[in-house]
Amino acid sequence: MTYREDVEGIDASILMHPKVWQASGHVENFTDPMIDCKQCKSRYRLDVLGDQINEKKKKKAVDTLKENNPGLVSKIDELLSGPDENENFENLLTDDETGNKLLAELNCPQCGNKGTFTSARKFNLMFKTFIGPVEDSGSVVYLRPETAQGIFVNFLNVQSASRQKLPFGIAQIGKAFRNEINTKNFLFRTREFEQMEMQFFVKPADDKKWFDYWKGERINWYKSLGMDGEKLRFHDHAENKLAHYAKEATDIEYLFPFGWGEMEGIHNRTNFDLSKHEEYSGKSLKFFDEEAKEKYLPFIIESSAGASRSFMAFLLDAYYEEEVKGEKRSVLKFHPKLAPIKAAILPLVNKDGMPEIAREIEKDLRRNFKVFYDDKGAVGRRYRRQDEIGTPYSITVDTQTLEDKTVTVRDRDSMEQVRVSTDQLSAYLAKKLMD
Ligand code: GAP
Repeated sequence: MTYREDVEGIDASILMHPKVWQASGHVENFTDPMIDCKQCKSRYRLDVLGDQINEKKKKKAVDTLKENNPGLVSKIDELLSGPDENENFENLLTDDETGNKLLAELNCPQCGNKGTFTSARKFNLMFKTFIGPVEDSGSVVYLRPETAQGIFVNFLNVQSASRQKLPFGIAQIGKAFRNEINTKNFLFRTREFEQMEMQFFVKPADDKKWFDYWKGERINWYKSLGMDGEKLRFHDHAENKLAHYAKEATDIEYLFPFGWGEMEGIHNRTNFDLSKHEEYSGKSLKFFDEEAKEKYLPFIIESSAGASRSFMAFLLDAYYEEEVKGEKRSVLKFHPKLAPIKAAILPLVNKDGMPEIAREIEKDLRRNFKVFYDDKGAVGRRYRRQDEIGTPYSITVDTQTLEDKTVTVRDRDSMEQVRVSTDQLSAYLAKKLMD
């Protein structure tokens, strides 16, 4: 955002007027289908139940379903004909005709009993709380399940204050809350998570052009920060799977150790949100196009990334175990821009004035970089500790420093060392970190 003149930032509230969530469709539509096991009381999300059942058992259940329902065989085959097997099974489970019949053939992943599932019920994912002392329906408010709506309702405030013209975007990073039925896979699905969303407002006729533009920009963002391109892919949403607000949608997926998973959604939201907020608030959200001399609601291209989910992907992508001189080294090869600590400063020994020089260097560098001072243990051990947390550069003050005011700078990935003059260190690091 900082690098683009056509994107502004915002920090909207977490608790907004409940009408915002009626307008957005979340009160009515932001639901997951939920089922329970009548035997052991375990609760599951119907659409992802297949993830917890092995392929052999799924196949057996589908075969029995076909045997018992000859009239449905062609429909079952059609629902199973897509390229993604998980999605095919989800199609069968969530279909009105086949869903309950298939459920009757499946065993509960927890207790192993067959035919013990309830029918699916809709479960709204928004957390509710109350404003003020009275806990009645008139005082209900919701913790935001996405940051996007705070951008939509503030669209004209930001546009007029920043004097932006179409096309332009509004971005925000912040907490979102969803009462997920099953949390799983560490940070992948949690009830409280961090989103980073950007809504790009465009002329309606330009929607396709900008949708394609943002697809390219966003996947390149992950690659530019070092993520392995082989582990990234788009997953386009079929028309019958689109969210209630979307005309076109794709996910950027990463190949996690547990399979492909969504990190970010890119959606053409049309003018759905702005028109709904106009309707519910009674206030115009139309943009006045000075060139065309007309007022209209812009279309919105959204990029909606999970900061916690993509953080996990970056972490996994950066993790390597290598053998160095007969010893195992664990290293996080973070892109320098992502490394939480940019450089470590290490006096070779705790005498001969080396700690004092190292402290001076630390003080100087700390003005611009997050750095870490470490004088504990053998220098080799100290390098390994920095490798483990992904520090790209380690600066060592040694005997030669006392003579010529140079230090060694060790590169985390190549482990090569170069000598750099202490008065050039800040410029050296700045260049390396910005490359
Ligand atoms: N405004 C559109 C929107 O929120 P979404 O696909 O529901 O779209 C966007 O969510 C991103 O938020 C996802 O791609 C994912 O990275 C992240 N996300 C969604 N639910 C999450 C959860 N329960 N835990 C962690 N991250 C989540």
